[in-house]
Amino acid sequence: MAQRIAVANNKGGVGKTTTTIRLAEALAKAKKRVLIVDLDPQGNASRRLGWQYDAANPKPTISEAIRADEDGAAAGVLQPIGWDVEYADRIMLAPARLELENRMAEAGTAGAWRRLVKALNGVDRHFDYTLIDCPPSLFHLTQLGLAAAHKVVIVTEPEYDSVDAATRVRDFVANRAIDLGNPGLEVAGVVVNGMKNQLLDAEQRDSIRELFGPLVWEPIMNMRSVLAGADNDELPLTEIRGEKAGEVRGGYELLAVELMKAIPA
Ligand SMILES: Nc1ncnc2c1ncn2[C@@H]1O[C@H](COP(=O)(O)OP(=O)(O)O)[C@@H](O)[C@H]1O
Ligand SMILES: [Mg+2]
Repeated sequence: MAQRIAVANNKGGVGKTTTTIRLAEALAKAKKRVLIVDLDPQGNASRRLGWQYDAANPKPTISEAIRADEDGAAAGVLQPIGWDVEYADRIMLAPARLELENRMAEAGTAGAWRRLVKALNGVDRHFDYTLIDCPPSLFHLTQLGLAAAHKVVIVTEPEYDSVDAATRVRDFVANRAIDLGNPGLEVAGVVVNGMKNQLLDAEQRDSIRELFGPLVWEPIMNMRSVLAGADNDELPLTEIRGEKAGEVRGGYELLAVELMKAIPA
């Protein structure tokens, strides 16, 4: 069975989705089979992987699999990604669109928080890793992800509110894992993303190291416009050019090694 990893932070815009898809990409390059579950109704991961919802030819999304509340329901929603690279064959996507918001209203129905666990049951057994891209809240959608995950990876910027939100995720996991029926759940890594200024951001970077110690994965990722450009243009990192392209590609390759070390498949 795949190692399931929820990628989370209680703040938006910190690089959860970028980290999810770029780690998936680096893992696939390292010959791992990866399933990406897009659990954010914004559907950013789905779009950046080249997936599009077509109303004339609608493809099911993770929302339908969650709504089904049935073992293995996600089998019918896995789709290939749109990137034109060899290793894209090793990445599959359970996409999301805005309709996923409707699952929130069902949070109070019996056993609602176990619906993703059930949906994935048996479905990801042929993958090495399932990466679950969570929305920036700790409510129902993220709880579905946390109930289904073996480990949590927190992404944070070296910025006060982001670090604060990262500690809320850590505390939520510590305090609620049992309530989520998942007592073994733990934070396995912290990715620091978006260093802008080595001097200005150093204080927050150091406080992240103090708070999370050896859980902080290396390297710390810099803010790089080539990366934002690749996300915008729905491109794999093998197709980006520019002075910093090698730094960005190499950074995610090293982070993927950290992941495989911390969470062996
Ligand atoms: N290291 C980085 N350098 C440059 N842009 C980045 C970096 N990390 C993320 N971004 C960009 O910042 C924006 C927010 O990132 P995103 O992954 O969507 O955050 P989240 O999923 O936490 O809301 C996106 O446009 C993304 O392309
Ligand atoms: Mg996101």
